[in-house]
Amino acid sequence: MKFKAYQLAKRPAGKFTSDCFKAVELEKPELKDGDFLVKQSHMSLDPAMRTWVQDNEDSYIEPVRPGDIMRSYGVGEVVESKNPDYPVGSRVVGITGWAEYTLGGEDMQVVDKSVDVTALLSVLYVPGFTAYVGLMKIGRPERGQTLVVSGAAGSVGSLVGQIGKAEGLRVIGVAGSDEKCRWLEDELGFDKALNYKDANLAAQLEAATPDGIDLYFENTGGPIQHLAFDRMNRLGTIVVCGNIAEYSKDIPSPGPSWVDINLKALRVEGFVITDHYDKVEESMGAMMGYLEKGQLKFRSHVLKGLDSAVEGVQLLFSGQNQGKLFVEF
Ligand SMILES: NC(=O)c1ccc[n+]([C@@H]2O[C@H](COP(=O)([O-])OP(=O)(O)OC[C@H]3O[C@@H](n4cnc5c(N)ncnc54)[C@H](OP(=O)(O)O)[C@@H]3O)[C@@H](O)[C@H]2O)c1
Repeated sequence: MKFKAYQLAKRPAGKFTSDCFKAVELEKPELKDGDFLVKQSHMSLDPAMRTWVQDNEDSYIEPVRPGDIMRSYGVGEVVESKNPDYPVGSRVVGITGWAEYTLGGEDMQVVDKSVDVTALLSVLYVPGFTAYVGLMKIGRPERGQTLVVSGAAGSVGSLVGQIGKAEGLRVIGVAGSDEKCRWLEDELGFDKALNYKDANLAAQLEAATPDGIDLYFENTGGPIQHLAFDRMNRLGTIVVCGNIAEYSKDIPSPGPSWVDINLKALRVEGFVITDHYDKVEESMGAMMGYLEKGQLKFRSHVLKGLDSAVEGVQLLFSGQNQGKLFVEF
């Protein structure tokens, strides 16, 4: 049996372009003991894909090299198995690849078929895990504090803000369009949302944070970064989750000054979820709890068919995705 997949054809110069990917036809692999074959049904598209294709051997994960099948997270069904932990018919989620079929790995989790796939990809799996670990474990907020989150209308940021509201914080979101800002305020209950493309962003941030910022959750970099940094309160915390504005640049933008980190005694902490797999169960339970209490809303941006990933992944870097972006096969 043959199936379709996409290789990384070349490393992008700047943002992803369609010629970075090449369609190939692969032969179904022969299974050895311990192997299982997954037919992918849903494939997540994530900003991290841009960092995975960088020629960076020091990153948290092995780079995808030209000629490799492009990496992704995804959901699928086990269709052949020589591994008793992953029987035929079970649904799995984990690292898959831009392919119709993939050999499963030990990182894959079996997920009950009663769990809605859209909620799984948009809330319970990577976005929720990232938001929960980043805010609750790295940020360690206290009720009444002011939280500013960038990338606020995205899959991670929208959950960070809503967890923040559920935990009694004052939440200011920063996003890239007026429509996204309205969604954050009117639907998700953010106290205020700011469009980082507005000319008077500094004045708006000042007005929205009269008592300064206790906790800044960084998803983007870009114009909000220095402004948020300048409004940090003494002993405040900055959680560095992502920097999508930087991923396509060869030369990183200058960061904020270390003098203020020193004099304001700020805690600035980066994190990557792959270092926190021990908290998956706790995170899934907590996110399920917020969902059941009606404290989380989400939206998903669904593309159809594997081929749509080529153009689809580019939406992330122009702000054209509305919510969690994934491909349905
Ligand atoms: N640390 C971890 O383990 C971890 C795990 C998952 C994700 N992340 C990071 O979390 C961040 C958000 O990821 P996500 O999955 O939730 O993606 P997402 O927010 O659903 O989608 C990306 C969004 O980023 C915004 N964006 C794109 N270019 C931008 C720019 N130049 N400046 C400012 N904003 C820009 C766009 O929204 P606007 O319209 O608002 O511009 C776009 O819709 C990313 O940086 C990602 O790498 C980190």
